[in-house]
Amino acid sequence: MPAPRVQRTTTPKNHPDPTGLGFGKYFADHMATMEWVHDRGWLEPEIKPYGPIPMEPAAGVLHYGQAMFEGLKAFRGVDGVVRLFRADANARRMASGALRLCMPPPEPKLAEELCHALVAVDRDWVPAPAGTALYLRPTLVATEGFLGVRPSQRYLFFVFSSPVGAYYSNATGGLEPVKIKVELKMTRAAKGGIGAAKAAANYAASLYSAAEAKKQGYSQVLWMDAKDHAFVEEVGTMNLFAVINDELVTPPLSDSILAGVTRDSLMTLARDRGMKVIERPITREELESGKAKEVFGSGTAAVVSPVGELNFEGKKVVINDGAQGPVAKGLYEELTNIQRGAKPDTHGWLKEVK
Ligand code: COI
Repeated sequence: MPAPRVQRTTTPKNHPDPTGLGFGKYFADHMATMEWVHDRGWLEPEIKPYGPIPMEPAAGVLHYGQAMFEGLKAFRGVDGVVRLFRADANARRMASGALRLCMPPPEPKLAEELCHALVAVDRDWVPAPAGTALYLRPTLVATEGFLGVRPSQRYLFFVFSSPVGAYYSNATGGLEPVKIKVELKMTRAAKGGIGAAKAAANYAASLYSAAEAKKQGYSQVLWMDAKDHAFVEEVGTMNLFAVINDELVTPPLSDSILAGVTRDSLMTLARDRGMKVIERPITREELESGKAKEVFGSGTAAVVSPVGELNFEGKKVVINDGAQGPVAKGLYEELTNIQRGAKPDTHGWLKEVK
């Protein structure tokens, strides 16, 4: 990729205290943008000050929902060097999701390079303390103004970033087990649908259930399959893992489950540690009868989020006495140590931002 044109901000913002970042409250100074027009393809990318995106009221994204995003992180290593974690995997996932949503896939290498170029410009925004990162949000939306239902002929790909700490705000930086309501009526994604794409619509589909669960004192919901609610799919916005019979089990990828980069990383690290890792359907019955020694979610934002209690329509199943389990803790530490450069990156997941 030729180096993108960079227009630097003339009004840089103050950096927030890196020990109180929370998640997604602050935005770094710049964003990268690249337009796609049907008869020209992708136009030259640029990096410019973070700010509003002008859009027609008739823009396709606002009506027919052609929108998807990614989430990935840049870390400041213990050696001070800034590195991106598995940006190539996120870029590939965005390209395949874009096809499902009838959008032009940003070329993965180009998307990855644009993320690197953006972080190079906002390098100072990458926080240093353990448990923090610069979270990048590549996004693809339909921008053409029209009304007949069809794919848009104009798109905007943009990337902005946010210095973040723990996703769940609690004392242990996210490793505190959460209470989860098992959603046995509504569904997040169905067979044949768009659940495997990181489509904005999947998050819209999840909000009502999650809000109801929160009113009842739960952090999130456990999503089951759309047909019978018999098989476990995801937990909140995360992939799900369970430790059953000393094996690490996770539902196989399908068109209703997102192919998590953290999911893949944790499976690799667990295998490295000699654990048996199995992708197979997990039934409601297995979790309801208390067979799981541990249950946890995995995602870029929270990394690992242990589940301490599952509520099946009033029946409470406490997992590992409501405490953080050794597998979740071990994998969290292993992965975050690699991300911070405190442990060797034997899988080549980190790339230095030059
Ligand atoms: C993640 O786990 O990274 C997510 O998908 C959550 C994000 C949408 C904030």
